[in-house]
Amino acid sequence: MAKKVILSGSTATGDLTLGNYIGAINNWKSLQEEYDCLYFVADLHALTVAQDPKQLQERCKSFFAQYLALGLDPDKNTLFLQSHVPEHAELNWILTCLTPMGYLNRMTQFKDKSSQTKNINAGLFTYPVLMSADILLYQADVVPVGEDQKQHLELCRDIVNFYHNRYGEKTLKMPEPHIGKQGARIMSLQDPSKKMSKSDENEKNFVSIIDTPKKIQKKIKSAVTDSDTVIEFDPENKAGLSNLLTIYSVLSGKSTEELVNEYQGKMYGHVKVDLADLVCETLKPVQEKYHDLMKNEDYLLELMAKGAQKARVRAQNTLKAVYQDTGLVTL
Ligand code: TRP
Repeated sequence: MAKKVILSGSTATGDLTLGNYIGAINNWKSLQEEYDCLYFVADLHALTVAQDPKQLQERCKSFFAQYLALGLDPDKNTLFLQSHVPEHAELNWILTCLTPMGYLNRMTQFKDKSSQTKNINAGLFTYPVLMSADILLYQADVVPVGEDQKQHLELCRDIVNFYHNRYGEKTLKMPEPHIGKQGARIMSLQDPSKKMSKSDENEKNFVSIIDTPKKIQKKIKSAVTDSDTVIEFDPENKAGLSNLLTIYSVLSGKSTEELVNEYQGKMYGHVKVDLADLVCETLKPVQEKYHDLMKNEDYLLELMAKGAQKARVRAQNTLKAVYQDTGLVTL
């Protein structure tokens, strides 16, 4: 039986963080053995906010290298940059013409983002339609997403229904969300009530995958905790400490209870020092591989081209069928 298709991506904004690693990429990695996985860098989505062209280019290469360095295997998966497969933008248009404005108006991420910026461009509004194109081009069965993208996936399912009603059901597959079993949500280091976000303007809030050990030590040492001194895992009343214990638990494989026992009678500072060492140790081989890849740009571009080639063959098949369904003249 053919393997089920998994597709996911990360928008090329900010820095990939320890939160992305623990929450998403580790999960992607565990899926690569069992499924036919496509993972991409969403560079077109990044353009919904103003980008410095040079920086964006560097960041896209860096994200791709980090995917590889974090353990996504280019032979087992299809790894690529979204803009290298022009069919994403083409299917996006067809789907845009099927999507009611009212549905897009309800998207909470659009409401949040547009309330925070003066640059409210149409791309920000139609962002979830492009996401739907990403998913539907590859007949994805399952889409691993975080909580914040669930509504977009629901919209994608609505779009598939609109499409099925108008053009029949043979071309586009209905995707299912996949919420990772690793329930760990990694929070901001300075404000543990919000998620650790890669687009956070305050870099003290997150640990980047490619931060130097010195920076990592500093950020973890200055993480906000509370004025109590007892080591307990209590996300409600000790959100900061509990966030550190969660990270510690995921990276060490020990349960939070074990850690609490281990640190009984010690100070928060001890947890921080040991955790910082563990984070540095975990990221060391990743960073070594990352720097090697970044030094070898030809090789990196070659892997991108291979991934794009694999993805394109599949995307072209779907797009052709869509054009035929739609009544466009195909040659
Ligand atoms: N919007 C996702 C993010 O915030 C990235 C993304 C783009 C995506 N297209 C997708 C995720 C398709 C899953 C499926 O990072």
